[in-house]
Amino acid sequence: MPLSRNYEPVPKADTDGDSDVTLTNRQTRRGVPGFLKRNLAAITITGLLVVLMMLVVAVITSITVEPFRQILVVKTPAPLATGHTGHTGHAGDAVYPIELEGQRQCLPTKSRTTYSCGNSTTEAEERGCAYDPLAGCWLHKECPRDFTHEFATFNNGQPFAYYYDEAMTQQMKDYDEVGRNPDRYWTSIREHLVHCLYLLRRGHEVHMRGDRLDTMLGDLEHVDHCTNMLADWLRRDDPVLDHVGTSGFTHCFMSFTSSTRRPRLNPTITQYVYDVLFADPIIPTNHSTNPDTDPRHITLEIIDLSSQNLPLYDESIIPASLPAADPTPHYSKAHTRAWSAVVRQYDAFIFVTPQYNWSIPASLKNALDYLFFEWVGKPAGIVSYGSRGGGKAAEHLRGVLTGLRMRVVGTAPGLSVKFTGVSGEKVELDERDVAGWTGAGIPGMMRNMGMELVCELDK
Ligand SMILES: Cc1cc2nc3c(=O)[nH]c(=O)nc-3n(C[C@H](O)[C@H](O)[C@H](O)COP(=O)(O)O)c2cc1C
Repeated sequence: MPLSRNYEPVPKADTDGDSDVTLTNRQTRRGVPGFLKRNLAAITITGLLVVLMMLVVAVITSITVEPFRQILVVKTPAPLATGHTGHTGHAGDAVYPIELEGQRQCLPTKSRTTYSCGNSTTEAEERGCAYDPLAGCWLHKECPRDFTHEFATFNNGQPFAYYYDEAMTQQMKDYDEVGRNPDRYWTSIREHLVHCLYLLRRGHEVHMRGDRLDTMLGDLEHVDHCTNMLADWLRRDDPVLDHVGTSGFTHCFMSFTSSTRRPRLNPTITQYVYDVLFADPIIPTNHSTNPDTDPRHITLEIIDLSSQNLPLYDESIIPASLPAADPTPHYSKAHTRAWSAVVRQYDAFIFVTPQYNWSIPASLKNALDYLFFEWVGKPAGIVSYGSRGGGKAAEHLRGVLTGLRMRVVGTAPGLSVKFTGVSGEKVELDERDVAGWTGAGIPGMMRNMGMELVCELDK
């Protein structure tokens, strides 16, 4: 079959001498497309350069221009008779205009969005904010309100009393009236103490959930103010406070060395972990707390797995089938009974493990397999090390410990070992590795892990 093509008719040759006109017309038709075609590369490059410049300008602007923030507090700041600086969000007796210094806003702990309640009651309501009696502020609906009920019903279910004047001649009828009061209010010292008590409690809850923080909760000055206020009142000469009515107990941690070869790095790394935890002022060890009076006090001990002399698993029974309350006497081998007795002494564990071929050493898995109920329900932390921090070993160990029903905490520091090495029988910690760990925030992670364990023990 022949193919037909639609050829454009070829213009007749200009034979009548007005070829100029014909040429001019042709140029006009081809002008813009022709220009675009001839300069396509130049136009594309120019366009890309313009877009790139706009991007650079946008990035610089977003870094340097501080976003405008509005205030959350809508009450007119006023000093309180009790020196209560927290309720209005202002320090001391100074009366601030409603400006930056008095601002309260909802700071996120997860995402970076901030919420504001504007500058007036009307604005606050329009933005979905409501007065929170515990904070003494208008809070955005995204801000947590833990313990507001406990605060508002502290007095045998009754709200606190608030007055327009120090002489208490004019009482406000409810919290709504307090929130809408544009001037100062007067209230009791008890209200102030309970406010401090529950705001500190709210701070803890919000932190543990990773929830949003309002600027009063996040304000160190306010936290200091509240703890000082409570401390001052606790220093009062009240004989009731000196009655022996408190008992405490000591939690024990076992920090675990898990490789068994000779020579090995494990005792050196475990000692480093121990030293960091022990020296941390936040972790309630002997260093920072009195074991006789602090119920959260913990004792750290190091157990070396290689001195347990455990052979490869040689029990005929399955540990999980033994009586949960007292499995120890039911093991057939003396080394298992001894191992069971060791582990039962401790309330929580930190496993310090190297990475062997993308997992934990067989010696550690073996020691874990020997027992079951001795591990169940106890909090566990993991510290791994290896040329890249031993993350794969930590991951495997988390799975094994979870199978043993242990409560493994989230933070698991991984120590990259680059310079520390085995030389003869002596294993020294290389300063450069220690500096690298410090730079990478390992001591902070240790603290988090330690405190997560302490919190687990408190549950
Ligand atoms: C059998 C074996 C396997 C290893 N596999 C790994 C590995 O998978 N990843 C890694 O980073 N390091 C690995 N290493 C290096 C160790 O993490 C490093 O030697 C460490 O010091 C071992 O701990 P230890 O001295 O307490 O036994 C391995 C070492 C051994 C002995």
